[in-house]
Amino acid sequence: MEELVKKGSLRLRWAYDHMPVLQELDRRFRKEQPLAGVKIGMALHTEAKTGMLAVTLANAGARVALASCNPLSTDDSVAEALRAEYGLEVHARKGESEKEYYANLNSVLNIFPDYVIDDGADLIATAHTKRRDALKNIKGGNEETTTGVARLKAMAAEGRLEFPLMDVNDAKMKYLFDNRYGTGQSAFDGWMNATNLMVAGKRMVVAGYGWCGKGVAMRAKGLGAIVTVTEVDPVKAIEARMDGFEVKPMREAVRSAEILMTATGCRDVVAEDDFKNMRDGCVIGNVGHFDNEINKKQLKAMSKSVRRVRDFIDEYALGDGRRLYLVAEGRLMNLAAGQGHPAEIMDTSFSTQALGVVYLAEHHGEMGNRVYPVPDEIDDEVARIKLKQWGVRIDRLSKEQYAYIHSWQEGTRCAS
Ligand SMILES: NC(=O)c1ccc[n+]([C@@H]2O[C@H](COP(=O)([O-])OP(=O)(O)OC[C@H]3O[C@@H](n4cnc5c(N)ncnc54)[C@H](O)[C@@H]3O)[C@@H](O)[C@H]2O)c1
Repeated sequence: MEELVKKGSLRLRWAYDHMPVLQELDRRFRKEQPLAGVKIGMALHTEAKTGMLAVTLANAGARVALASCNPLSTDDSVAEALRAEYGLEVHARKGESEKEYYANLNSVLNIFPDYVIDDGADLIATAHTKRRDALKNIKGGNEETTTGVARLKAMAAEGRLEFPLMDVNDAKMKYLFDNRYGTGQSAFDGWMNATNLMVAGKRMVVAGYGWCGKGVAMRAKGLGAIVTVTEVDPVKAIEARMDGFEVKPMREAVRSAEILMTATGCRDVVAEDDFKNMRDGCVIGNVGHFDNEINKKQLKAMSKSVRRVRDFIDEYALGDGRRLYLVAEGRLMNLAAGQGHPAEIMDTSFSTQALGVVYLAEHHGEMGNRVYPVPDEIDDEVARIKLKQWGVRIDRLSKEQYAYIHSWQEGTRCAS
């Protein structure tokens, strides 16, 4: 146990050393105590970067309880270190069963949080259904990912959302970098860790050309894969094509795929008819939030046998002799088989989270039960601190330039 705590502490420290924006907020929060007396319930991937967000919120005065938002994404060493060295309440274990997963979400709700920070909306959905006793106390929440925001917007549209919700996923300082560059890099961290195989020269299919899919396709191309994109949105399909990728329907694309990665937030993106047409040896994985993008029930039903051939790889042997390989049980592989996004990426995502929860604490009384965008000032503040830490300076508009780009009258457009 001592060894585990030591390992976790070092991991937390390493992450924090690469999170300068969060460090600056931490220095400010320690002095100003913007969350004094507040209770925060979190359901995020319980690993080092998340740990440092939790510590920062605790340093700002909050009592924090943390569970994981995925049964496979917990770093047990970090969980132990957060308990032992920072005194945080952590309810998470790598490989927890579905029953334990929900029990852990319930343990977080048992502190009767004032604010919740969720990733995928399971914590918030649980509070709105089975844990309405805890719901009464919740004054607001933040949601981290695309899939969670989609669920919460659906709840709000039905009039079922019972507190204001900040859509952190769609903050510019989140999705532009986290979903694209974070997923783009960490997907391959997970893939390589799981497979120890080559990407260069392989035919790879990326399902979905949203922010995550774009990042994955870009990095796959950079690694030398021959990339085909599948889409359902005609505009995104054009974007993929103009970025230089083949675009095909999944049923056709799978015929030549040696690597397949889903990044859609949709269900059954790869299913029975696709498995029938895949070539022997195809490695299939997912970076979308839930493990329903690849229909593993159908894959199992079609298989003669299933066996674990490496830590994060299951071999499905089909009746006709082909073998298909599923990474990390179809769960988001960058966290389940890798170490998640780089610390520098989570620095800006989690600084946005931290400022978002302080904003909620200050403004929840004026807010309705809706999904709110993160205010531009928060994006700008995070971006400014990030640039300052990098030592990057940028230009400022002069008064005349500001007036010019905000004017419309004729005669203001000619050179003088
Ligand atoms: N692994 C991670 O670390 C990580 C990070 C951020 C987001 N996510 C998750 O990844 C998923 C995608 O997020 P995003 O931000 O890229 O979303 P997005 O909305 O920007 O993109 C999703 C894309 O998938 C396409 N799509 C939907 N259904 C499809 C289907 N059946 N076939 C092909 N394409 C389809 C959509 O048209 C869209 O272009 C979400 O579940 C999100 O929560 C994961």
